[in-house]
Amino acid sequence: MPPKQRDSWASRLGIIMAVAGSAIGLGNFLRFPAKAAANGGGAFMIPYLVALLLLGLPLMWVEWTLGRYGGGFEHGTAPGIFHSLWRKNRFIKYFGVIGIFGPLVIFLYYAYIASWTLGYSVYSLTGTISTISDQSTMQNFLHGYQGIESNQFFRSIWPSYLFFLITFGINFWVIFHGIKGGVERICRIAVPILFGCALILMIRVVTLGTPNPEHPTWNILNGFGFLWNPDFNALKSGKIWIEAAGQIFFTLSVGIGVILTYASYLSKGDDVTLSGLSATSMNEFAEIILGSSIIIPAAFVFFGPDNIQSIATSGVYNLGFVTMPLILNQLPLAGLFGFIWFFLLFLAGITSSISLVQPAIAFLEDEFDITRKKAVIFFGIFAFILCHFPVFLLNNGVVDELDFWGGTFFLVVFATIEVILFAWVFGIDKAWDEMHRGADLRVPKIYKFIIKYITPLFLLTILSVWMWQEWIPVILMKNVQAADRPFVLGTRIVLVVLLTVLAIGVKIVWSRREAKGANDAA
Ligand code: PFF
Repeated sequence: MPPKQRDSWASRLGIIMAVAGSAIGLGNFLRFPAKAAANGGGAFMIPYLVALLLLGLPLMWVEWTLGRYGGGFEHGTAPGIFHSLWRKNRFIKYFGVIGIFGPLVIFLYYAYIASWTLGYSVYSLTGTISTISDQSTMQNFLHGYQGIESNQFFRSIWPSYLFFLITFGINFWVIFHGIKGGVERICRIAVPILFGCALILMIRVVTLGTPNPEHPTWNILNGFGFLWNPDFNALKSGKIWIEAAGQIFFTLSVGIGVILTYASYLSKGDDVTLSGLSATSMNEFAEIILGSSIIIPAAFVFFGPDNIQSIATSGVYNLGFVTMPLILNQLPLAGLFGFIWFFLLFLAGITSSISLVQPAIAFLEDEFDITRKKAVIFFGIFAFILCHFPVFLLNNGVVDELDFWGGTFFLVVFATIEVILFAWVFGIDKAWDEMHRGADLRVPKIYKFIIKYITPLFLLTILSVWMWQEWIPVILMKNVQAADRPFVLGTRIVLVVLLTVLAIGVKIVWSRREAKGANDAA
């Protein structure tokens, strides 16, 4: 049988756009401004930049390098990649399961929230949203859309479900067309459009001036001041450091296996250092410049200093789907700007969610040796069934639970394993050479030290502090409302089953391989 040809990227720009597309997502335009405003404003940028330089950027390089390395052995996911790094250890491949599990868990809720932005884009264009001018009606619209209540706007969840079906379908349609023909093609178009939309909105917000003459201090400069004036006292709490590190992981899509998979489609001599840095820079531009210049300053200008704090801490859904449309509705061409806002989020969301699908597909293709088409159908059905939990149990704590395990906890765990394997098992000298194979940029030497000592120590500290402070309350569901506990427990059971199924999958693959190896040798 001729050796199976793995898919590959058509161009260097293609993979950079795809990784940037994965990184730039709802996290940049909703999660980041909300976190910054809630955690000391400008002071948040100190732990944020520290985490970027000591965790985010090193992990980006580590994942690009390990991904390309694994691709050389026809492994596109962590079980195979970890095994290639440490063949003597029989257990390490099971830790790699997190690199498929994590993206799947994030996908389950992320795709659903991304689908709201599609729905809201349409309702902005039809003018439904621009007729709403007060907070409680806008909230009703959102609750109606989410199927939480039946009201004048929505009698059931079905319209929202339809947008979910479309969004889900687009994800699998893109993946079905492969790396070159699907992911790369979409990202090369969507990422520039997304930047265009964000720039238009930023310019619109920056030129707002003082729209309310009765309140001359409610102006755009003070709006930026609110977000950026540092409250250095906030730095004393451990929470702000953990929040900043969490934001860096989430926004860069590192530490969960997604970039490993994308990089596994590179060829041996392709550059990873400059490409990794480019994708990181694009994400940081989209986050620090664009993401911070839209929602919070605009909300300040329209709602004033007394209300902004409660708005900023009212949660990501409220900010994006209630506050922002209310603001845009006060401007001329509200429908158009509303559309630009939600369509921006939709493009950002979809280019991220496809990256969350690819690891599971790569796992099936590479390790079970099935065709892409079969992998897409099989995993599509599986993911589709699971997505119904967040869709129908949104209000029961399921999404928060998925976000906690997939988007926070396992990210840190996986990142820790990955960097220790890279720097200590593979060995930093070998790893450094591997990283610089075909490199167009020599990474400053200090990073050799950082990757070996600082990044792992930083990660282990975060994990220990977290375990120390939160482990017991989390396990006992202390912060979960009593009514939600059965749902949260149910979610946990499903997650444990998922992890077990994946581990069994890994076991089957390797047992088969060993049997085949023994046969071939005989
Ligand atoms: N980076 C995406 C965002 O900022 O919205 C979210 C994300 C995508 C996280 C892919 C993790 C991931 F693997």
